[in-house]
Amino acid sequence: MAGDVYSLKEAAGRVGVAPITLKRWLLEGKVEEVPRNRHGWRLFREQDIERISSFARALPAPVRRDVPAERLTVASLFSGIGGFDLGFQRAGFAVTFQCELNRFCSDILSKHWPDAPRAKDIKEVSGAAIPLSDVWVGGFPCQDVSLARMGKRDGLRGRQSSLFYEFARLVGENRPRVLVIENVPGLLSSHQGRDFGIVLSTLAELGYAVGWRTLNSKNFGVPQSRQRVYVVGCHRDPRGPSAILFEPERSQRDAAPSTTNGKTSLSPFKTIVGHPRKTGPVTQAIAYCLYACSARHTGTDWSRTYVCYPKDGRVRRLTPRECEGVMGFPKNWTVPHPGFHDIEDIDSLRYHALGNAVTPPVAQWLAERIKSYLASHESVSTSCAAVAGA
Ligand SMILES: C[S@@+](CC[C@H](N)C(=O)[O-])C[C@H]1O[C@@H](n2cnc3c(N)ncnc32)[C@H](O)[C@@H]1O
Repeated sequence: MAGDVYSLKEAAGRVGVAPITLKRWLLEGKVEEVPRNRHGWRLFREQDIERISSFARALPAPVRRDVPAERLTVASLFSGIGGFDLGFQRAGFAVTFQCELNRFCSDILSKHWPDAPRAKDIKEVSGAAIPLSDVWVGGFPCQDVSLARMGKRDGLRGRQSSLFYEFARLVGENRPRVLVIENVPGLLSSHQGRDFGIVLSTLAELGYAVGWRTLNSKNFGVPQSRQRVYVVGCHRDPRGPSAILFEPERSQRDAAPSTTNGKTSLSPFKTIVGHPRKTGPVTQAIAYCLYACSARHTGTDWSRTYVCYPKDGRVRRLTPRECEGVMGFPKNWTVPHPGFHDIEDIDSLRYHALGNAVTPPVAQWLAERIKSYLASHESVSTSCAAVAGA
């Protein structure tokens, strides 16, 4: 813009907020309106930007932090059996909070994180109950957006997937610096993309720059083709999501090209798992995607992946323990406490929870990248804290 007059986008950048936030402040009368040009575009002068910046600086900063300041922290919502939590923990994060409605999943969480504060129904959680955490992670239920539903998809209006709005409500109350949402790729196409548009615009309204990437677990050392969408939001940092989600070569920043580490790998599909001797089992190198085995969710479910014994002509499904391996969890991760009573259903509960989970190696990759991002943006975060209550 010519001279000392700025557009809404430029002014927002100078203040350090998303344009949508600045627009909201103007519409809500939180900051005084500015003159418009003959086309109706707002024109911001230096003194307007100074006035709006003072408003932003005066907003309350978050103060609570319940673990040592030197430790990065993650709070998880829709925690399931803790796929995100395990990946982030492996990257050095402390898990500050979990929220999970399902009794079996909560039991598994309490086995692995006995000391983490844990809530049940997200609808009953208030932001004040969640310790201040650097990162929030959550894969809201996907049933209503999943293509595996094989019928009309209710999308974000559905009973389960509308829980996204509860997540957004809590994000609005606490404004963590970084958030990660995981979901099935069907989220991208639900209601011709309008649902995904709502996810993005809701987060933008809350002051988050948002990016997304589809990642397949098979590229992270997991023996399963499992594609999921990962949405990353960074509070008031438009460069954050791409720095986290995309390697420097992809975003064309100044970086040396990647090199292979050690021997060049074959295609994962060419690797032979098991030893097909006369009676030995034959398995695929890469399993099909595991789904939660609920008839409502999908008619095909995880059982498409089989182990066969050619000599005997026998075929069997994967055991829950094998499913843990196929999801990248440690063995017996989903064995509940001895006191858990639905003994007859344990296998089904394990299959279902595993089919819903995030694969920890992908979560760990994201966590490592977020860690680097947070380390390189330490000074930015300090200045952002002054406007984090907007
Ligand atoms: C897609 S799964 C997330 C799995 C998780 N990321 C993992 O790695 O296991 C969604 C989870 O949300 C939980 N959930 C559903 N409704 C909920 C509610 N009202 N409050 C809290 N959790 C809920 C489900 O029980 C399920 O475990």
